[in-house]
Amino acid sequence: MLPTVSVVSVINYKGGVGKTTLTANVGAELAYRGRKVLLIDLDPQSSLTFSFYRPQTWERELADERTILQWFGSVLAPGAPDDLAKYVLTPPEVNELVGKNGAGRLDLVASHLSLMDADLDLAADLGGSRFQHGSPRYLELHRPLADALAGEAFAEYDVVLVDCPPNFTMVTRTAIVASDHLLVPAKPDYLSTLGIDYLRRKFSELVRDVNRVAGPGPMEINPVILGVVFNMIQYASGGSPIIAARNYLTMPDSVEIPVFDQRIRENKTLFAAAGEQGVPAVLVPGGNVTVQYELQQLASELLAKTRS
Ligand SMILES: Nc1ncnc2c1ncn2[C@@H]1O[C@H](COP(=O)(O)OP(=O)(O)O)[C@@H](O)[C@H]1O
Ligand SMILES: [Mg+2]
Repeated sequence: MLPTVSVVSVINYKGGVGKTTLTANVGAELAYRGRKVLLIDLDPQSSLTFSFYRPQTWERELADERTILQWFGSVLAPGAPDDLAKYVLTPPEVNELVGKNGAGRLDLVASHLSLMDADLDLAADLGGSRFQHGSPRYLELHRPLADALAGEAFAEYDVVLVDCPPNFTMVTRTAIVASDHLLVPAKPDYLSTLGIDYLRRKFSELVRDVNRVAGPGPMEINPVILGVVFNMIQYASGGSPIIAARNYLTMPDSVEIPVFDQRIRENKTLFAAAGEQGVPAVLVPGGNVTVQYELQQLASELLAKTRS
């Protein structure tokens, strides 16, 4: 048996809540602590990819041959898909910092601005966008990422973090099927908390449908929602979250979903500056120590929760 890798999908229907930011920062922090971390960017917006590579570099060196778009292309083409390991990159700037500190590494599978095409093609092959589990190819089309990550090349990773797009279409579904855990970043406001209940229900439906088709055995899946991480908390001068946010920092009892103890505060300066250096905020030398500490604690809490 290969050692098990923990695969965590970072997901929310809403954009702009911090999925990409938390994926990059938790990944970088764990790599800095010596772990082998793989990030997979599944969002056509490619923000995670652009956190580590400049758009010009992406265009010149990655876009045509070395992104998840080409890999999904090989999944959709006849014959065996490409080995996903061929698409793994090691972004230079962040790994210079990580490597100085220990034996960790932060790898990335880059996304593509046209990834939506692969999403549509997967849905078409399934027989339409309703995802009927009656399709003879239901399991095969939901499992490509799960099967790829079970390959020997990925056994060296301690954790795989998958940055999902803000939707529940095929690419996102392949991520969930490949996952052991889900992490749900959210802003503490009314609309965000509403969306989380819907996400939880769609998630349960997917797991139920997949397991109905897979039957008991090795194809059965059991991903667990680790919880909601509240991000972009604004603090009042007295030191507690502003009143508008306070009401939404707990989920209503009707929504059965855990909440992480660690919250991440809003800090526009640190997160904006980090974007340009190819190094996530948590590792930026001289960065705001309070925010960096919160991100470190979040990484610790995630580790603790994935172990249990
Ligand atoms: N805690 C935070 N404080 C300030 N800005 C943040 C914080 N978290 C994320 N951001 C910024 O908010 C924007 C959206 O975040 P992002 O991670 O891209 O969201 P998503 O991936 O959910 O769409 C980005 O510009 C990011 O730099
Ligand atoms: Mg994003």
